Amino acid sequence: MTYSMVELIGQKRDGGTLSADQLAWIIAEYTGHRIADYQMSAFLMAILFNGFDTTELAAWTNAMLHSGEVLDLSAVAKPKVDKHSTGGVGDKVSIPLAPIVAACGVAVPMISGRSLAHTGGTLDKLESIPGFTTDIAPWAFPEQLNDIGVVMAGQTETLVPADRHLYALRDATGTVPSLPLIASSIMSKKVAEDIDALLLDVKVGSGAFMKNRQDAAMLAQTMVEIGRSSDTPVTVVLTDMSQPLGREVGNANEIIESISVLRGEGPEDVTELTLTFASEMITLAGIADSETARGLAEQAVSSGAALDVLARLIERQGGDPRVIENTAQLPSARNEYVITAPRDGWITRCDALDIGFASVRLGAGRSRKKDVIDPSVGFSIEAKVGDSVSVGDPLARIAWNDQSALDSALSVLGNAWRIADEPTPKPDLIMGVIT
Ligand code: URA
Repeated sequence: MTYSMVELIGQKRDGGTLSADQLAWIIAEYTGHRIADYQMSAFLMAILFNGFDTTELAAWTNAMLHSGEVLDLSAVAKPKVDKHSTGGVGDKVSIPLAPIVAACGVAVPMISGRSLAHTGGTLDKLESIPGFTTDIAPWAFPEQLNDIGVVMAGQTETLVPADRHLYALRDATGTVPSLPLIASSIMSKKVAEDIDALLLDVKVGSGAFMKNRQDAAMLAQTMVEIGRSSDTPVTVVLTDMSQPLGREVGNANEIIESISVLRGEGPEDVTELTLTFASEMITLAGIADSETARGLAEQAVSSGAALDVLARLIERQGGDPRVIENTAQLPSARNEYVITAPRDGWITRCDALDIGFASVRLGAGRSRKKDVIDPSVGFSIEAKVGDSVSVGDPLARIAWNDQSALDSALSVLGNAWRIADEPTPKPDLIMGVIT
């Protein structure tokens, strides 16, 4: 059956419900480059405003899932578990997490995304390692998983191509923060991985796509349901994204911080989240109960086994593992600008959204589909909520290359930090668990 895209856009714009056949047609035609970006953008905006009902969401996700090949990991004997985050600022957890879990005997066939709106993307961060490729063919997954326990790959023309194209289009058209579009994007990638269980990190707060707990819980519930209908058990952890995670924001910066987590020298919040998720994944894999799992994860870090897995992953995917010992091999920016505290007091706000927007403006993310990101720019944050500062203390150091990009970034940072006379408690990192 063939349809008119203009008519289908109009139907969704006017609040109508589309059939499974119509939605599958849209995905197939767009993936085959027979629907123009301008029409798909209009359709995505109509979804953003009018949503999908449960049947539409199931059909759309299923069509995305089958837009390419689905992995067959039957040749991998180890339990297969993955984790995905709904996206945040400074959220580099996947990068230290996957090697830790792989070092504990879990296979992690991770298909990730690029930067999306103001949030960073695992693929862009990994690609700041010279030579590292995230373009991995489906046939290569089983062998790499059997050898080193982890693959960190992107959507390709053969693996969830619909998400590859829709993701890039949503990034440049303001159509990211839509519950059905986020749920279908994440779950089509994860169900394509042929995994035994999935851990989802649903971010809540200014720097997340879900600004409050209620919306985050609804997104979580929707993804649990999609998982259930595809026989993939899903556990969701709701976590704070009101301020950036860790101290580093930007692509190369976040690789350096990920390596520090694997050396046992990472910031407390990233380290805690990484170890919590690692023990959850080891438990989901059936390798240990929750009490023992945390110890296994900590041991994988302290023994250097997880760092060794990262080195093997980098080498296997085309990069130079010596970057771990010598992070100066990563791209670095030519200039530094320091933001200082205008007064003494306590930090009560270090806003993830403002810092996320500023990093896109610096060049760490994209504003147009074809933009090339600058892996070297970003933030090293020196003062976060709960810290005390004196006038003139650094709040953040900005690594930058282009004066107009820096000016543009600074123009959105006016309210990023707030300093008060009284301290505010640090936000709780973990806000709830849904299974
Ligand atoms: N992560 C994804 O893979 N897709 C989204 O839409 C948001 C976060």
